[in-house]
Amino acid sequence: MDIWKSLKSRQNAVADRPLLALFEEDDRASDFVVETANMRFDYAKTNIDRDTRADLVKLAEHAGVAAKRDAMFAGAEINETEGRAVLHTALRNLDGGPVMVDGQDVMPGVLDTLAAMRAFANKIRASDTTDVVNIGIGGSDLGPAMATAALSPYHDGPRCHFVSNVDGAQIADTLRGLDAKTTLVIVASKTFTTIETMTNARTAKAWMIDHGGDPKVQFAALSTAEEKTADFGIDPDQVFGFEDWVGGRYSVWGPIGLSVMIAIGPKGFDAFLRGAQAMDTHFRVADPLENMPMMLALVGIWHNQICDYATRAVLPYDQRLAYLPAYLQQLEMESNGKSVQIDGTPVDHHTGPVVWGVVGTNGQHAFYQLIHQGTRIIPCEFLVAANGHEPELTHHHKLLVANCLAQSEALMRGRSFGEASKMMAAKGLTGAEQERQAQHRVFPGNRPSTTLVYPLLDPYTLGQIVALYEHRVFVEGVILGINSYDQWGVELGKELATSLGPVVEGVEPTTGKDGSTASLVDYVLKHSG
Ligand code: F6P
Repeated sequence: MDIWKSLKSRQNAVADRPLLALFEEDDRASDFVVETANMRFDYAKTNIDRDTRADLVKLAEHAGVAAKRDAMFAGAEINETEGRAVLHTALRNLDGGPVMVDGQDVMPGVLDTLAAMRAFANKIRASDTTDVVNIGIGGSDLGPAMATAALSPYHDGPRCHFVSNVDGAQIADTLRGLDAKTTLVIVASKTFTTIETMTNARTAKAWMIDHGGDPKVQFAALSTAEEKTADFGIDPDQVFGFEDWVGGRYSVWGPIGLSVMIAIGPKGFDAFLRGAQAMDTHFRVADPLENMPMMLALVGIWHNQICDYATRAVLPYDQRLAYLPAYLQQLEMESNGKSVQIDGTPVDHHTGPVVWGVVGTNGQHAFYQLIHQGTRIIPCEFLVAANGHEPELTHHHKLLVANCLAQSEALMRGRSFGEASKMMAAKGLTGAEQERQAQHRVFPGNRPSTTLVYPLLDPYTLGQIVALYEHRVFVEGVILGINSYDQWGVELGKELATSLGPVVEGVEPTTGKDGSTASLVDYVLKHSG
């Protein structure tokens, strides 16, 4: 039988089986977990049993995940629609062997750029630079912004700010209060054509000139388009290039991570790379059941494609991972939000889920109501550290951990009508009112979640976590038969925005636009100054 069909029939068979009953069949607490040297991924609180898991592993084998993984690491052109290799892993291949692209070892170039970044970061850290403003969007913003926030206990360099939105509010708010003479502006753009980034970069340049700074000295660029950086007037010694085999959303490991390196220092950045490299090695050598990215992906496929749960909540109980959900939104949704397979034919299954989330415990006081008692099932992915960075606030951390574990337990366990009735009886209610009130306090339970635990959110661990999710996206993409490394779906909006620019400025008519768009333009023109 087709493995997809087999999985679907398993899902139908087990849909009403209580999760807790599974713990009687197996030692799930040790068998439905994956451990690397220092992290533990627990998927025991899902409806996956041994047979289902065996089918999921078969699915990965059938899709050729291992061969494609090896092809990716070896520099094959697995981004077929753009004719490119996918080699963000080379950026953290610190002491690995050569990596060949078109017969050339790319590692000497990678290591030279890393050395140049280190020298520049050290120079900036030793200078009187007080602030760094990274201007970029998408992968040129989310990775460094997420990592910089995540590693704030390790900051000993200048303050870092991130400007992404073309909404002038963001750059205005960011630059206000900064000293143009002691600020470094980093223009981060793989293509150096992105309209938001270039608009913000020009605004920042004008601001610096107006306020006595020197853009020739205080601007740096991170890009694959060196000529364009020169046209913008950036000193070639302050341009850090990378190759087109690094996708935007996979680029934090190289020059795009410069702001992180400036914030935490080259040593800390090396640890970040080494954590990712350790996850790469683990992904390449571990057997499927011991392989964290593989099992994280298979749990994702089970929930999204087989159980048809359309969204995935990422819930870090780690304040400094506040930007992780946004980062993963791009990583997962831009990579796997596709409708055709690599050969151009339509996909047979839903592709990537909607990824969303905020940090715990904040989410508990916002949307957990729906997660616990709503009509839709939302698989939750919890992340939590065993330790915080504030030794004087250990009691906060213990509360944080208790809340995290309580949520996954509550989601699984639920509360029966009988238990709720007893609670109401204890409050003195009887008869119909007791029943009515009890109904509102029933938790259906059996709601799946996974938990990733790690000792401490240090640079090494963050590197492992981010690489873990990158490889998860890869495995899911291979199983779905799609190209996770292009992003054609962002093009149409960009094209239309370009053509709408002069219309919104009132320079061109709305002719040819649909009625709704034309009236919205009219409204804006009528109400703008
Ligand atoms: O939104 C599409 C996209 O191409 C992303 O993939 C990318 O991360 C972002 O734009 C920014 O692109 P660039 O780094 O070229 O400015």
